[in-house]
Amino acid sequence: MSNTELQVSLAERSYPILIGSGLIDQAELFEKAINGKRVVVITNTTVAPLYLDRLVKSLSNFDVLTYQLPDGEQYKSLEYFEKVNSFLLEHNCARDVTLIALGGGVIGDLVGFVAACYQRGVDFIQVPTTLLSQVDSSVGGKTAVNHPLGKNMIGAFKQPEAVFIDIDSLSSLPAREFAAGMAEVLKYGIIFDREFWQSLIDNKASISALDNEELIRIVRRCCEIKAEIVAADETEQGARALLNLGHTFGHAIEAEMGYGVWLHGEAVATGMVLATHLAHLRGYINSADFEEVKQTVASYDLPIEKPDSMSVADFVKHMKRDKKVQANVMRFIIPTKIGNCEIMSDVTETELESILA
Ligand code: NAD
Ligand code: GLY
Repeated sequence: MSNTELQVSLAERSYPILIGSGLIDQAELFEKAINGKRVVVITNTTVAPLYLDRLVKSLSNFDVLTYQLPDGEQYKSLEYFEKVNSFLLEHNCARDVTLIALGGGVIGDLVGFVAACYQRGVDFIQVPTTLLSQVDSSVGGKTAVNHPLGKNMIGAFKQPEAVFIDIDSLSSLPAREFAAGMAEVLKYGIIFDREFWQSLIDNKASISALDNEELIRIVRRCCEIKAEIVAADETEQGARALLNLGHTFGHAIEAEMGYGVWLHGEAVATGMVLATHLAHLRGYINSADFEEVKQTVASYDLPIEKPDSMSVADFVKHMKRDKKVQANVMRFIIPTKIGNCEIMSDVTETELESILA
């Protein structure tokens, strides 16, 4: 199957997203997307043995350096931000350098933030290798590192020059990571597209069997939705916040349990179920649809119950630090039906108690 392409339309910062099989080996893609001669590929010690040599081979017409971080969310930090910048400076990289992020969302977010800051901004390309990064984090230009007081608290909006999604990389992804990515895929269905949601139920077997055409279809649909939202609201003044369905609850779970104990996608999965429960409580979603959401999320091997140890107070403590908080008011993304969500600021602690009990 040939590559499929779509565009993120942001005037002079527009860029292509290519999705296909074997993209890492297609030198001409990189040659078209890279402006200078110098390229630094940044990856981690898990992804490097799998894909780095192949990518470097595709960059044979460039002057290439590589940098490997240890693997883990804890390295998406100011410490490693500084280490990567130091590496670039030690190797005399100038403003015409292009950075390539080869890996999941941790690498993409960190490299994007370095690209936003190094010498006030250099080009970067995303080569996302996890499902989560292919359908979400590599598109849209949110870049960040974590601070001990909060996840993704230090960052910038910085759009890449291109996103090259090689679907084949999903074959080496651990099953738990694939499931975590499916949480974000399901999220797009609940927020924007009931037909897509239904296809995730109907085609579950071929998706879970990693059928190539099916994977390309779902990744493309998620990227289409995300590209449309980002083009309309790049810096999250309005509609982009809808993409955070399940994240207010999810971030609280991640923070309370300790980062990495629950994967981001797992926490988002439970968060989506909690947000749908809230919608059911308010009468927006009927029992059948609430059940369908729970069963579908669970069918993709994702958790649907909050951790037993977490109280309402634990949730509220973290939710007050959420980036969607405005004037000290917590805002929640709540489905009004499967395929449509709205931002609501009037959720009471009593309602939270009902769903978290
Ligand atoms: P990750 O980057 O930690 O990758 C998950 C694991 O899979 C890691 O161990 C990684 O080394 C490994 N891996 C990556 N590709 C592989 C492959 N092809 N084969 C085998 N192993 C592979 O996690 P993630 O889920 O990709 O991303 C999570 C991060 O993304 C979080 O930091 C989150 O905050 C961020 N995020 C950002 C945005 C955004 O818009 N910028 C959106 C969602 C999430
Ligand atoms: N992951 C949410 C966003 O990019 O806005």
